[in-house]
Amino acid sequence: MSVLIKNGRIITASEDYVADIIIEGEKITAIGKGLPQKADHIIDAQDKLIFPGGIDPHVHLDLPVMGIRSSDNFETGTRAAIFGGTTTIIDFANQQKGGTLYSALETWQKKATGNAYCDYSFHVSVTDFTKNTKAEMKSFIEQEGITSFKTFMAYKDTLMIDDATMKAVMEEVKKYGGMVTVHATDGNKIESLVEKFRVQNNLSPLYHYLSQPDYSESEATGRFIDMAIETGVNAYVVHMTCAKALEKIKLANQNNHRILAETCPQYLLLDADLYKKGDESVKWILSPPLRTKEDRESLWTGIQDGYIQTVGTDHCPFMMEDKLKNKEDFTSVPNGIPGIEHRMELLFSEGVLKERISLNKFVEVTSTNAAKIFGLYPQKGDIKVGSDADIVIFDPAEKHIISAKTHHHHCDYSAYEGWEVTGKVKSVLLRGEVVLQENEIQIEKGYGRFLKRAVSDLGKT
Ligand code: URP
Ligand code: ZN
Ligand code: ZN
Repeated sequence: MSVLIKNGRIITASEDYVADIIIEGEKITAIGKGLPQKADHIIDAQDKLIFPGGIDPHVHLDLPVMGIRSSDNFETGTRAAIFGGTTTIIDFANQQKGGTLYSALETWQKKATGNAYCDYSFHVSVTDFTKNTKAEMKSFIEQEGITSFKTFMAYKDTLMIDDATMKAVMEEVKKYGGMVTVHATDGNKIESLVEKFRVQNNLSPLYHYLSQPDYSESEATGRFIDMAIETGVNAYVVHMTCAKALEKIKLANQNNHRILAETCPQYLLLDADLYKKGDESVKWILSPPLRTKEDRESLWTGIQDGYIQTVGTDHCPFMMEDKLKNKEDFTSVPNGIPGIEHRMELLFSEGVLKERISLNKFVEVTSTNAAKIFGLYPQKGDIKVGSDADIVIFDPAEKHIISAKTHHHHCDYSAYEGWEVTGKVKSVLLRGEVVLQENEIQIEKGYGRFLKRAVSDLGKT
């Protein structure tokens, strides 16, 4: 099967030009002007932008939380991803305390296999450094193509590891060139604030926000950076939310320590004022919480200056019924919000069109940098000959409204209900197959493929 995409304006992390693209099988085989105009399928992309397929490096599908599961599974979540131009996701296989990394991987492979619409990989979350863990990490990096290890400095008594364990993880991962990623907020500080608010009977959603102040994030970010510097491991901070944490990242990089960071659309676009909306505020209970306008502005600047390399979603939706069940006690509300479908359109509308980021930066943070950081480049993350033909055809002028009535998340609310965005994903190709056209998915579930990843090549980001 061959595809010709004609007349599109191709945007990569470094280029912006009009040309035709020829795809044969799963790969891009030619890009240029004056190419043969014959193919099995021809798409005219006049007046459209052409982006590399999006890569969302932070997603939680079918995640068990508080006796329920995040409401999007691999079928519905990856389908929603395709509608939004994301062709690759990286989810998290969470180790059970006392369990092995391999059993975590097996559990998550079962959830995904035969169900995914888009390509996928996993980070593995290390929650317990047992006698097997060292050998498993080596084998994950060298055999399984899982090269990034997630750690938690929060969620005390469940996912959190202490500093000694963190260093042991880092030392091991460093040996094989892998990456340690972190949820960086200070679990002890948060727990002590939660206890204080519990005694005061202050347990409304606003106190979720107040129990995770920005300094609990900057402290943990700084501590993580110090340990990463000491051990020399490749290090990446997930879902960074605030100016104070960004300062720690900046300082490290100014001192020539390459510490990478991710943020999410919700931290760029939504404010903590949403915690003053009464019961409805449960919609935005996620960790870390939303912050201030000043924090949001600092994150946009962090992206512009290259201190934040990626925008993931941390997509982790729950139905309103589950969010509201324990609305009187924020500690019993499942954490997380939906977002996988609108990452690229929101970033385009609020970022590119409002001149906060350039088109090239948009491609960097939605695709190319994640591919480079997580060992998928140049197979993914670029439009060049030899890369997978993962391509988004995008109308930069089409306006539409985000709503739970029309989105494809399996979730009965949207964190951005009623927002008007300009720019719409029109067609998506994944490995040469047209997977979205005319607002219809063109493939069956199970088309998505597990991706083995290499170790990161940070020098290229
Ligand atoms: O609230 C969130 N972010 N839930 C998902 C788990 C995590 O901490 O990333
Ligand atoms: Zn987290
Ligand atoms: Zn997460």
